[in-house]
Amino acid sequence: MNKVTVCRKAHFNAAHRLYRKDWSDVKNEAVFDKCSNPYYHGHNYELIVSVAGQIDSETGYVMDMKVLKDLIKTHVEDAFDHKNLNEQVPEFATLIPTAENMAVVIWDKLRPHITAAHDLSVTLYETPRNFVRFSGPN
Ligand code: NI
Repeated sequence: MNKVTVCRKAHFNAAHRLYRKDWSDVKNEAVFDKCSNPYYHGHNYELIVSVAGQIDSETGYVMDMKVLKDLIKTHVEDAFDHKNLNEQVPEFATLIPTAENMAVVIWDKLRPHITAAHDLSVTLYETPRNFVRFSGPN
């Protein structure tokens, strides 16, 4: 059988601050450096959502890309774009919005809407050179 991966790119801008309330300012700055700036900072996030599965013999698709596009828009872009992640996105009320944690949150948001037989992988670029990938718990 031919397992094929289809990928959709998306984009959002968001602000965040990496810090722990239970740490002093000195410790936060020592660990998170500029990313703990109390006045926040922004990133141009690039997201790649990958869905892997068999090609449907009737449609020739693994998944309708319009459906995938709309899922990303509804569950990720509308939730994160132009938001302060720490202050405005409930998932990060108590979870540090690192790219790692964001990738897991995005995966968790999308997984229920992807056919169970399909594999889901999320790649999130925080900068053009720094990116993380999450393909589910193991
Ligand atoms: Ni940052």
